[in-house]
Amino acid sequence: MSEHFVVQGLAAGRGLKGTIPVRGAKNAALKELAAGLLFRDEVRFTNMPVIEDVSRLIGLLRRMGVLIEGRRTVRMRTPRRMTTELPPDEAERLRASVVLTGPILARWGSVTFPHPGGCLIGARPVDLFLEGFQKMGARIREKNGGYEITAPGGALKGANIFFRTQSVTGTETLMMAAVLARGTTVLENAALEPEIASLAAFLNACGADIRGAGTPTVTVKGGRLLSARGAVWRTPPDRIETGSFLILGALAGDDILITRCNPAECKAVIAVLERAGVPLETSRRTIRIRRAKRYRAVDIKTHEYPGFPTDLQALMAVFLSQAEGEALVFETIFEGRLRYVDELVKMGASLNVCDPHRIIVRGPTRLAGAELESPDLRAGLAYLIAALVADGESVIHTVYNIDRGYERIEERLRKVGADIQRVKE
Ligand code: UD1
Repeated sequence: MSEHFVVQGLAAGRGLKGTIPVRGAKNAALKELAAGLLFRDEVRFTNMPVIEDVSRLIGLLRRMGVLIEGRRTVRMRTPRRMTTELPPDEAERLRASVVLTGPILARWGSVTFPHPGGCLIGARPVDLFLEGFQKMGARIREKNGGYEITAPGGALKGANIFFRTQSVTGTETLMMAAVLARGTTVLENAALEPEIASLAAFLNACGADIRGAGTPTVTVKGGRLLSARGAVWRTPPDRIETGSFLILGALAGDDILITRCNPAECKAVIAVLERAGVPLETSRRTIRIRRAKRYRAVDIKTHEYPGFPTDLQALMAVFLSQAEGEALVFETIFEGRLRYVDELVKMGASLNVCDPHRIIVRGPTRLAGAELESPDLRAGLAYLIAALVADGESVIHTVYNIDRGYERIEERLRKVGADIQRVKE
């Protein structure tokens, strides 16, 4: 059943006040579940975000024969044998399912999967994954719009792989495959996102030998199944959720304390907000933020970590619609990530699309409540923030997109004073 949010705008009135704890990182949790396939025994994860993408991946793994229980704390046991074919209907709908291919291929010597889906944010090819597997000795056959990959003799072998383009899931997938491959794998021009270093730390704690994760060169000595021996892994805080709350706090916070976060991983967004004039105080695990009366426009350019995250680009455009002056928003990672613009213009924002990668935002503009349809997960949250900043009531359809990555967002924001109702259609 589909649902929508009815949001009352705060406009110039009372702002949000209180504490918002950050949940575990979606982009770490999904990879941890994939990594569970590399284990001979049960693994346990705590601080899992209870979000749709995680439930979907758990559902998909269950369908393949993996035993998984729990939500916030998840116990996972991989059987010795299971199907190596990702269920096409579910895998097509969840881009992140592609990370399962590395562990499955490395452990059972074959994997079949459809071209993965996910957010509508550009072509999102899988060529880097396929080239990496080939370098590790695998053979690839295209079959019914998907791929059938086999490792001769049932095992991958270590290889030197240079990424033409930095890819987060590409790095993680090949790093996990390398854990069970024979010999040493060196990944160069690897992505630097903190979720990669976190994944490697978890795998190393359970017997893997991965060096350099979080730097451009990752070296993996592979060959042995991992063992958790009762250990529990805690999912790190979500830096994109932290950044989302920062942008919300900057626009609508009377006094917001963001807790259970890691500000050290949010430097790019903090630097941009500070430059714009946002008053914020950071400590080791918290950030306090209040809105100011006036902000100045700041150009942003998305970049691989530690640069400004593409996942906060749409939210930042909402922020810039409230800042004084003209700003360039330059999306360098994905070519289809400006689909949110028309709906914000409908609300009164001044956004001009220059080309598939660039927009000019002129502010400040008053936003008016509107009926909105979110094209993807992050744009959905951008709309929610715009609706809270606007005058009057807004309706946001396709709440499902927001639920994919933000846990019960309306309940959590209600606790700090937002008026958001979830309505079944
Ligand atoms: C991950 C994150 C996503 C974030 C993105 C960029 C997860 C589950 N998702 O997505 O939230 O927005 O990083 O920070 O962790 N590319 C290729 N060939 C490939 C793979 C990727 O050309 O085989 C290109 C993509 O089209 C894109 C660029 O590489 O232009 C970077 O994408 P990538 O880092 O792979 O994004 P994801 O890992 O899918």
